[in-house]
Amino acid sequence: MDRPLRPGRRPLVAGNWKMHGLRKELVEVEKICAEAAAGGADGAEIVLCLPATLLGAAAPICAGAGVGLGGQHCHNEPSGPFTGDISAEMLKDAGASYVILGHSERRTGHHEGDESVRDKANGAFRAGLRAIVCVGETRAEREAGDALPVVASQLAGSIPITSTPESLVIAYEPVWAIGTGLTPTLSDIAGMHRFIRERIDAHLPGMGHGMRILYGGSVKPGNAAELMGVSNVDGALVGGASLSARDFMGIAGVYRHFCDAGPA
Ligand code: 13P
Repeated sequence: MDRPLRPGRRPLVAGNWKMHGLRKELVEVEKICAEAAAGGADGAEIVLCLPATLLGAAAPICAGAGVGLGGQHCHNEPSGPFTGDISAEMLKDAGASYVILGHSERRTGHHEGDESVRDKANGAFRAGLRAIVCVGETRAEREAGDALPVVASQLAGSIPITSTPESLVIAYEPVWAIGTGLTPTLSDIAGMHRFIRERIDAHLPGMGHGMRILYGGSVKPGNAAELMGVSNVDGALVGGASLSARDFMGIAGVYRHFCDAGPA
C-alpha cells in the first residue's frame, strides 16, 4: 500500500448525509467538530454535506473547528422562478463552501444528465463554491465491461472547461457499491482512479496531477485504511457512516495514523 499524503493534494474526507438529519442530529456535527479541532484527522480536510435545512445552524459549530460545509445539489441559476430549488449562492450564504453534484441518486432519481451537472458546476463556480462531481458505473455497465467508457463519458460531459484543482473535486462512486457493503477490488479502484486522472489531464491539460479524486461507496472505519491507501485515492465521499461521529472520524482518522507513521 502506498502512502496517502501526496504532495500538492490535501486529502479530503467528505460526509454526504443525503436526506437524513433533523436539528437534534447536530449533536453528531458537534462531536465531529470537537474531534477535528483536537487533530482527529490531521492532514486531511473534513467537509460535511448536510441537508440544506441544517447548514445555517451547523455553520457556527463548524467554523471554529476548521470543518467545511457543503450542499448536496444546486440549481444552475443564481435565483428565479424555480419552486423547490436552491441556488449555489443560497448554499454559500448559508455557510457552504462545497456542493456535491451529479450524485447517482440525483442522476437517476431526478434525471440529471451530464450537461445539467456541468451547468450546475458552472453555477457553483460562479458562487464561489467548490464542486464535488460524482461519476461511476452501474453493475450492468461494469459487467458489460463498460466501466471505463461510462466514466470517461461522464467526465467529458460533466466537467466545466474552466475547472481547476481548487474548484473541482471528482468522486468515483460505483453505483453498485453505494449503500450495499460491496466495494470494488483495490486493484480495480487503483485502475479507475489512474484512468480518471488521465482523463482529467486530457480534458483539462495540466490539471490532472493536482485534482483530488475521492472514492465513495460503502467506506467504513474497517475498510478506510486500505481504500485510502490506494494510489490516486485522495480521500473519501462517505454516505451512511458519516451520520455517526464515531464512524466518520474513524474513517477520517486514518490520515492521523498515516501521519503518525512518519513522513511518506
Ligand atoms: P455509502 O457510504 O452509504 O455507501 O454512500 C456512498 C455515497 O453515496 C456517498 O455520496
